[in-house]
Amino acid sequence: MDRIRLKGGVPLDGTIPIGGAKNAALPLMAASLLTDRTLTLSNLPDLVDITTMSRLLAELGVDVARRGDGVLALTAGNLSGTTAEYDLVRRMRASVLVLGPLLARCGRARVSLPGGCAIGTRPVDLHLKALAQMGARIDLQEGYVEASAPDGLTGGHVVFPMVTVGGTENALMAATLARGETVLANAAREPEVADLAACLAAMGAHIDGIGTDTLRIEGIDRLGGAEHAVLPDRIESASYAVAAAITGGSLELAGARPDLIESVSDALAAAGVEVTATANGLRVARRNGPLTGVDVMTEPFPGFPTDMQAQLMALMAVADGASMITETIFENRFMHVPELCRMGANINVHGASAIVRGVPRLSGAPVMATDLRASFSLVLAGLAAQGETVINRVYHLDRGYERLEHKLAACGADIERVKE
Ligand code: EPZ
Repeated sequence: MDRIRLKGGVPLDGTIPIGGAKNAALPLMAASLLTDRTLTLSNLPDLVDITTMSRLLAELGVDVARRGDGVLALTAGNLSGTTAEYDLVRRMRASVLVLGPLLARCGRARVSLPGGCAIGTRPVDLHLKALAQMGARIDLQEGYVEASAPDGLTGGHVVFPMVTVGGTENALMAATLARGETVLANAAREPEVADLAACLAAMGAHIDGIGTDTLRIEGIDRLGGAEHAVLPDRIESASYAVAAAITGGSLELAGARPDLIESVSDALAAAGVEVTATANGLRVARRNGPLTGVDVMTEPFPGFPTDMQAQLMALMAVADGASMITETIFENRFMHVPELCRMGANINVHGASAIVRGVPRLSGAPVMATDLRASFSLVLAGLAAQGETVINRVYHLDRGYERLEHKLAACGADIERVKE
């Protein structure tokens, strides 16, 4: 298994190119199942999860053709199956996003239940409830969701009791081909949901309220093809913003969209970091002055993203004073805490909150994490630490950060991948 080895203490300086958003790309790829025409997606990041989704779609009979760097043409002319097997779903939970499109297009779908994962139990009950409210019959058998709607889905009024990104995406895709109007209330407002809705609209779907918490979809008989560029990855952008801050460096994030990471920029500014919009994206710098502890609570968009909680915690670990970080989205998303503590951080967890008392310096250590964002927080801690840090289980990072060691090395980081 590969490892990342890095030595801390170098202020990063340079430009980091920001790729397309993984969490927008995955539902967009699933949307290709809704039509027999070609959906061409560009600005796709080169990540393991994208390969996994391509494999799943190919197994369902989708023609997946590479048309250059970051461009895939997806044609679901004749589907050969409607089952998403356990083997792929357990590797990538986002596989469950094929459920809504398959059901809407084929009248049936069989998708393995994903099961729990490192950051929480993560059920899909709200996806299923929403589809049932659109007329689907849902049975759970032998670890699989068996969904059917032989006469097609019908419009429904769905009120999500809590904000769910994937649940909103599944219901939204299904609703585009349902008979009549569907209303999705308390829908997720994450930019990735809006990007999916924009692409569906380009495919001919009738959707009102894009970007708001109430989506109204008037179902139609068929969708057409489209060409769509995936929006820039706000979590990758914000993660590298913290890299500039934690090393006392200055990075330009080329292609980043400031409007997508306002809550993170606000927290960084409150901590003493300069964040300015540029013609190209964003510049993040901390040339002088200490970092100050700030309190942060994760919330659905436009609140502070749970996918940035671990990275901000690494920053707070070396800030002056204390900071309280509260996680409200996932019940078990503090697995980075013991690893950060092994590097010298002073962090105590009480229920859903972590109290971080900043220390002057972290020290390098061999570490590992059990999820993507937690792994990146260890990279950040390593960039700020004295001595060498070795990060194991790099496959987590490869799921969400494209060419991470190259991007950081180009800005001066002493970092390499050790192949095994
Ligand atoms: C998406 O996951 C992202 N993944 C996650 O990013 C992100 O952390 C999360 O949204 C929250 O922003 C993708 O987009 C592929 P949810 P998703 O449904 O859709 C509970 C990363 O690091 N819930 O919004 O699975 C759930 O357990 C990943 O890139 C139910 O109870 O998240 C959680 O507590 C990790 N029942 C909360 O809602 C359901 O049916 C929010 O989950 C669905 C969700």
